[in-house]
Amino acid sequence: MEDKLINLKKAFDEDIANSSSRENLESIKIKYLGRKGAVTQVFKELGQVPADKKPVIGQKINQLKGEISQSLEAKEKELENGQISGSTGNFDISLPAITKDVGSPHPLTIVKDEVCSLFVEMGFKIVEGPEIETEHYNFEALNIPLEHPSRESFDTFYIKDKFLLRSHTSPVQIRVMEKEEPPVQIIVPGKVYRPDAVDASHSYMFHQIEGLLVDKGITFAHLKGVLSVFTKKLFGEKTKTRFRPSFFPFTEPSAEVDVSCFICGGTGCSVCGQSGWIEILGAGMVHPKVLKAGEIDSKEYSGFAFGMGVDRIAMLKYGINDIRLFYENDLRFTKQFS
Ligand code: PHE
Repeated sequence: MEDKLINLKKAFDEDIANSSSRENLESIKIKYLGRKGAVTQVFKELGQVPADKKPVIGQKINQLKGEISQSLEAKEKELENGQISGSTGNFDISLPAITKDVGSPHPLTIVKDEVCSLFVEMGFKIVEGPEIETEHYNFEALNIPLEHPSRESFDTFYIKDKFLLRSHTSPVQIRVMEKEEPPVQIIVPGKVYRPDAVDASHSYMFHQIEGLLVDKGITFAHLKGVLSVFTKKLFGEKTKTRFRPSFFPFTEPSAEVDVSCFICGGTGCSVCGQSGWIEILGAGMVHPKVLKAGEIDSKEYSGFAFGMGVDRIAMLKYGINDIRLFYENDLRFTKQFS
């Protein structure tokens, strides 16, 4: 009887070592522990064992049963975890790996980062400012008086009291000048807000990048030089830059800056409205009143400032015809920029 038990264990060990699927494991279980299984069978045979040996043999059968159950359980776990090597069973090593869905930077982030790094190369420092501003920083300090019609072009969301959502990034000019001694040389990316009706080219929230450089002896020529280098780097070496006289309350003189159309090269197409030029920036020499609001002596220092719309530049660069695409987070759109 004892030999029988030893042989039974051997046979079981062999069976389980060769087992590589759950179905197979189940049949082994039935073979040994089932109602007609081998272990059940030896229990029945216990009746024929001499009385004095019964307790010992009985114990041995129980022990065997315990070992078999344990091995079966362990094997089952092993199969569940797919630890079986080879292509047998329910694990197929030839299946392609599960690919990870990797995200991609938003097109506005790509353009913002590119513009900022071009200015960082020229010595500008990146600074940010608050999106909730006061009338003082958004308007008064920038030489936009309360009742002045120029406020209309900076239509604004008011919050309450004198708080508002900034309508441009220019207030950061004042905040930095107040804190720092010239030379000041900063680039300011950020969100701005205007209560515009939403359409293909308007959004109540969009992005600007502001630039400010203040030092001794800064002239309009420096502004032209810096912006010409910038536009060539952003749109290509052949890009020409044109300064058109314009008006901003916080700069004097002021200019609007156009680049030669990078689609048609200046001959005229639908992107540049047949003019050959595309407007991308507002700029000018910092108004003495603005320097004063920033606690900088305009007799000693001068500076230039510029501001551009990131959304507009991204639309031009990627040929996107609707600003709303930036804000809908449709993966079919955003995935194209990875
Ligand atoms: N703040 C202006 C705007 O929002 C842009 C600008 C910035 C113009 C700095 C001149 C100098 O349109």
